[in-house]
Amino acid sequence: MTGVVSLPGHFSLVSLDTIDSTNEEAKRRAADGARDGTVVWARQQTAGRGRRDRAWVSEAGNLFFSLLLRPDYPAAEAMQLSFVAANAVADAFAVALPRGSFVSCKWPNDVLVEGRKAAGLLLESASDGKGGLSWLVIGIGINIANHPQDADFPATSLHAEGAGEVTEEKMLRTICLRFLAGLVMWRNLGFAPVRKAWLARAHGLGSPVTVRLGEETMNGVFHALDETGALVLRQDGVERLITAGDVFFSAS
Ligand code: BTN
Repeated sequence: MTGVVSLPGHFSLVSLDTIDSTNEEAKRRAADGARDGTVVWARQQTAGRGRRDRAWVSEAGNLFFSLLLRPDYPAAEAMQLSFVAANAVADAFAVALPRGSFVSCKWPNDVLVEGRKAAGLLLESASDGKGGLSWLVIGIGINIANHPQDADFPATSLHAEGAGEVTEEKMLRTICLRFLAGLVMWRNLGFAPVRKAWLARAHGLGSPVTVRLGEETMNGVFHALDETGALVLRQDGVERLITAGDVFFSAS
């Protein structure tokens, strides 16, 4: 068992030493009927996964956890919770890092410190067959003590950026608290305030961007985030909505 973390009552914590992937464990528990608000946290993952089936290096000292949610919303709306989660991570970083540190959110769901990736989110879900979701798992990986040296994007860790005091326990608790606050806001007020908070920290807004989706590469300007959370790519005056893909800015 890992250390004890006190989370608000909405959450039910499962803490593990080692697991293949906290997302896989959360999905297994979802299939077994685990409730909304289950948080699966592990000190280490032996098969941590990133987006597009990339491996997520998961050594002890970093934070790996997954939120299991059962949002009673249409599927497209429920996916907006990725922005609620990214905002929660960015807020938690701002609390932990030295004053003046530059925290930004990179579409679709990375959180950067000083322009380098310090957190990634992986969303997985299952349809309920009626337009909603039977479950949504938001997996969150935070580089606290280490970061990869050879990733596709420049990476960093909270310790490397001066947050020497931060631990996995503290970060997990702060993110859950912030997520809960964001969830309440989203439920009561919709996506608009979530989008506004995300945009206030958006990485590369208004800049030239390359979007890669499978074999396709698109160049344009990151013009906006639309009301659903899609990236609005402007190409020669024409706007194209991007709902999935990896984005690369010239400096990233
Ligand atoms: C990415 O940036 O590609 C997303 C990375 C997500 C990693 C986290 S670590 C906890 C959870 N379990 C996994 O296997 N992946 C996510």
